[in-house]
Amino acid sequence: MSNDSKYQNKKIYVAGHTGMVGSAVKRELEARNYDNLLCKSSEELNLLRQKEVEDFFEAEKPEVVIMAAAKVGGILANNTYRAEFIYNNLMIEANVIHSAYKNGCEKLIFLGSSCIYPKMAPQPLKEEYLLSDYLEFTNEPYAIAKIAGIKLCENYYRQYGCNFYSIMPTNLYGPNDNFDLETSHVLPALMRKFHEAKVQNKKSVTLWGTGKPMREFLYVDDLADAVIFLIETVEAKDIYSKGISQINIGTGKDITINELANLIAEVVGFKGEIQHDLTKPDGTPRKLMDVSRINSLGWKYKTELKEGIEKTYKWYLNNIENK
Ligand SMILES: NC(=O)c1ccc[n+]([C@@H]2O[C@H](COP(=O)([O-])OP(=O)(O)OC[C@H]3O[C@@H](n4cnc5c(N)ncnc54)[C@H](OP(=O)(O)O)[C@@H]3O)[C@@H](O)[C@H]2O)c1
Repeated sequence: MSNDSKYQNKKIYVAGHTGMVGSAVKRELEARNYDNLLCKSSEELNLLRQKEVEDFFEAEKPEVVIMAAAKVGGILANNTYRAEFIYNNLMIEANVIHSAYKNGCEKLIFLGSSCIYPKMAPQPLKEEYLLSDYLEFTNEPYAIAKIAGIKLCENYYRQYGCNFYSIMPTNLYGPNDNFDLETSHVLPALMRKFHEAKVQNKKSVTLWGTGKPMREFLYVDDLADAVIFLIETVEAKDIYSKGISQINIGTGKDITINELANLIAEVVGFKGEIQHDLTKPDGTPRKLMDVSRINSLGWKYKTELKEGIEKTYKWYLNNIENK
């Protein structure tokens, strides 16, 4: 495992820097004096367009790429826009990874997510469980595209020796999260529902499904911290030589959706009742990452869930609600 800061002055392209993950990575890199950052909005550079991506890489030759650009959403969006989820994500990652290879990129970190693991995989989810069984139906198109991204990195390493590898964060939340109820993940959706119910003096809030599934949540600034730790200390060979294709990032702790709802209601100050819409799907029963590998490399999460929810709610009030 190398452990130097040879990447400090490299030209780092943060793809997706306007998103929740990309903006956290950019903030954290800037805070640590990585001042050679390259960022393009999707209007300036549409990663779906191969020619635009090729021209950008040829002109800029980024030395490090953090792949946080993707089409992302919760159960409803994943299940409704199935074709868009598979097409957009395949195109974005194929265009970027191939151009990174063509232009001699020294290191690329690709972001997947825990939904790439099989629906009924044993818990906690070990890196080895990739491709060992069927995926959850609602997000299968997204997961297939993400698995293709993991395998692109792995096979560009195996054929061309590219220093490209993938990280699998658990569910993330924090500043710049998506609070649109049509497309958001569970934590920001609940935060908004409870907030609006409090403001409108509603007596109850309805959750999708039984509330019994268990989920793990990582504050996005902790993920950004992990990305920088990996840039500085972990190379592709360190991953693939262990017989795995990607490395998990999470807290290693999970809670039920009902417990999460109670915690958010407490932080938001909603005092009404929590009801359940049992006609709606629960999704995968449990998704907990085995984070022993990243822990043994020397990285651990810092922000406990309640503290992270408090920070996120503060951000929501300042940036969404009061605008
Ligand atoms: N959110 C989570 O809980 C979670 C958990 C695990 C892993 N991840 C992974 O982290 C990555 C980022 O997720 P996120 O939550 O930060 O998503 P996000 O907030 O929706 O951000 C997505 C980013 O991708 C950019 N993008 C999308 N389509 C693009 C295109 N055609 N061309 C250029 N840029 C494009 C967006 O730019 P515009 O805004 O300009 O469109 C935005 O900057 C994804 O790979 C996701 O799988 C997320």
